[in-house]
Parts: sequence; C-alpha cells; structure tokens
Amino acid sequence: MRIIRRLYTSAFAAVLAIVVGSCQAPPPACDLDLVGQLDIEGAMAHMAYLSEQIGPRVVSTPEELAAAEYIAAELGRYGYQVEIQRFPRPTVHAYLTVEAAQPQRLNIRAGSLDEVSPEDYPLLTPEGGISAQVVYCGNGEAGAFPTEVSGQIALVTRSEEEPADVISRATEAGAVAVLMHNTDWKNYRVRIAQSDIPFATMNAEAAEVLREAGEVTVNFQVNRYDTSQNVIATRANSEHVDGSLPIVVFSGHYDSVPMSPGANDNASGAAGVMELARLLTRVPLAADVRFLACGGEEGGLVGSRYYVAQLSAAERERVVANFNMDMIATAGPDQTTLFVNTLDGENLVAQAANAAADTLGYADLLNAPYQRGSSDHVAFADSGIAGANFIWRELETIALEPWYHHPHDKMEHVSAERMRIALEIIAAASLKVMCADGELRQNAATAPAGGGSY
Ligand code: BES
Ligand code: ZN
Repeated sequence: MRIIRRLYTSAFAAVLAIVVGSCQAPPPACDLDLVGQLDIEGAMAHMAYLSEQIGPRVVSTPEELAAAEYIAAELGRYGYQVEIQRFPRPTVHAYLTVEAAQPQRLNIRAGSLDEVSPEDYPLLTPEGGISAQVVYCGNGEAGAFPTEVSGQIALVTRSEEEPADVISRATEAGAVAVLMHNTDWKNYRVRIAQSDIPFATMNAEAAEVLREAGEVTVNFQVNRYDTSQNVIATRANSEHVDGSLPIVVFSGHYDSVPMSPGANDNASGAAGVMELARLLTRVPLAADVRFLACGGEEGGLVGSRYYVAQLSAAERERVVANFNMDMIATAGPDQTTLFVNTLDGENLVAQAANAAADTLGYADLLNAPYQRGSSDHVAFADSGIAGANFIWRELETIALEPWYHHPHDKMEHVSAERMRIALEIIAAASLKVMCADGELRQNAATAPAGGGSY
C-alpha cells in the first residue's frame, strides 16, 4: 500500500513538473512528496495538549484563550506573522473545583434560563465563587432535601422529576446552589424558566468523583466572559508583495462544547491547521496562505463569520479556497469515509480533494462533495468562497462517533491513522490548488493569468 502510494505520488510530481516547467516564470519547488513529510506524531501532541493539558475550551473562557495562546505561540515558532483577533461573544460558564491539597476541577455545564441572554444572566456567583459542602439529596423529590443542605450545595440525580421543581425544592430547603448529575457518562443540559439560585449539570463520572471525595468543600463558580478570539497566521508570498496572488485559507476550530475535552471535535482540526502550517513554512507556492484557528465555532460559527466579515473586499475576492478541518481524527469503527462537505456542490476544494485522493490511492475513502454545513466552511461559502469541511462519518448513515460533544471525546478515542489520511488528502489537494496548472483554479477570478507567476 505504502509503495503504491509513493508511486502515485511520484507520478503526479512528474506531471506537475512538466506542467510547471512549461510556464514562463521559474517554477516554485512545489512537490507532492511533501505529503510524506507530515508529522502526525507532532499533530497528535498538539491534540493532547489542547484536550488534556487545557481540557474543555468553551467559547470566551480563559481555557479557550489559553488554547489560542498555545496555537499562536506554535505558529509563531514556525516563523509566521501571527495575530490574535478578538471579537465579542458574551458567554456564561460554570466551574466546580474540589478543594483539596491538589484541587481537582470537574467538567460541568451552567444551567440555562429560557430566553435569557448571557448579558442578562441573573445567576452569576460572587467573585471567587461559592465554597460550600456538597449534600446528596437523592432524586430531588419532595422530602429529599435534609436540613443540613441549608447554606450548602445540593447534589441530585437526574430522574423523572422536573428540574424546575427540584431546584425550587432545593431553594426552599436553603441550598445555595444545585448540581444535577446524569445517570451515565453523557453530558446533558437543563433549561428552565426561572431560578433564584445557580445550578449546573454534570455526568455520572463527575458525580462519582464527588462521592468518593466524601465530605470535602467544593468551589462553585458561574462566571460571564465577554470575548473570544481567532488565531491567524499569515504566509505572504515574499516574491509577490503586490497582493495579486490568490489566497487559500486553512481553518479548524479549537473551541469545544462545555464538559467535552474536544480531542476530536476539534483539537484534531486545530492540530491539522498547525501541522499544515509547519509543513508549508518554506515551500514556494503560487498563493498566499492563511492558517486560521477559529474560536467560537460551537457558539454558532462566531469566529469564522467574524474573520470573513473583517476581510477587506479586495482580500475577500482573492480568497479562492477554504480547507476546513473538523473531526479529522475520528476513531469510531464505522466512521470510515472522509466526507467533504460543501454548500455549493463540486467546488474547487471538492474537485481538488477528489483529484488528490485519486493520486494518493484513497479514492474509495472519500465522499466529495456532500451537501452539509455545520462548521466554519459555511462562513466562507456564505461569502461566495469555495469552502469545504473534511470530516469522518459513516457512509450509509452519515453518523458521527458516539462520544461527539460528550465528555469521552478524549485522546483514547482518536485515531492517528485517520488523522494521517485526512491530512495527506488535504495537503495534496491544497498543493494542487496552490501549485498546479491553473485548471483547478478555474473559480479564481484573481488567479494570475496564463500561469505567469508559477
Ligand atoms: N464538529 C461539529 C459537527 C459537524 C457535524 C461538523 C457535521 C460538520 C458536519 C461541529 O463543531 C458542530 O457541532 N456544529 C454544530 C453547528 C454549529 C453551527 C454550532 C452542529 O452540527 O450542531
Ligand atoms: Zn466541531
């Protein structure tokens, strides 16, 4: 398999050399052999850092910012000019820390109130949070709240009881906050009309940690954060400072949903952006390249929409392709097909992906294009830019992995092999766009005429 792929690669490189050689200007040293230089271990290390050292990276939180700073520092080390682009995104987020010699932070999710925006959220905790004991109160049914819950935090198990009733009973019993836990490993959320005390949800595993900790004090915080950010690394082609070259944007969001470490969704895509940035550092290309790690995707594509909106009209017209990576390291046994999701059918990116998969011997693994949004390529597509999202799914059912958006989206559930295949296809496809004979750049209004800049 490996030998066959090398042959394909070399054959394509030879064709490329002939095509490139026929142009007037000197060719760039653009070579599909580059895909063999992908450092998948390095990309996995980025994923591990983001999902394990930092953990959940909810939009606008300090953890999301820490992830942005990590990505920015790495991209800076490769020699790029890096910008952290801030944008407003008010968000309410909750933390629960077991206070011990070695404090332990558990993954929880702040409760929601119907039609209350983060700006008006009335249940924020005071500066420094609430430190109190946790008192177990069964399912929170009538009579379940003992007198000792007064002044403490009530913990209840998810059941048929209405969450609003459970919270109001806890409030009547004098609890200062309510934590509700699921009966399995999954994340869940509670939204009610009104509450006088803060509340949050967690999974069964986090509740188990609390039970095992016994009579400990916990610190419970519900905070508001106002600003999220994108990380943008720019690779301007130094020989074309006049801004005439097409622009290719690689993107992947680095935020996660609450309670999820987001290893696959989407430390994988962010690590993909970082690894492609490393790979392309010094390769001469007939394009300007942007590496965009998006914040706030899970909040509704907030970062990518902001990025596209702030481009000048001239710059936006030069963007010919967006390669977006979201869940590119899926390990699920059924998620064996790499979908190339677009909103505009067989666009430049989908064509290039098909051509690259043919070249690399991966044609059977690819489903391109497939009509689907749900990730940052939508922000580009809405501006008329050819964008596509690369994501592993089950072919027949289009199912994602079971731990999608859940606390088990961890390194133990990602695949280095799927990451490698996805990155090889994306790297090869992008090289076809940035180096090939122009045919693949047919949608690029601003592509250099006659291949003169190759
Ligand atoms: N990575 C996911 C899911 C996804 C599903 C991407 C299918 C591409 C195709 C993504 O981060 C996500 O969860 N998206 C949201 C929508 C978003 C606008 C909040 C979703 O699909 O619910
Ligand atoms: Zn995602």
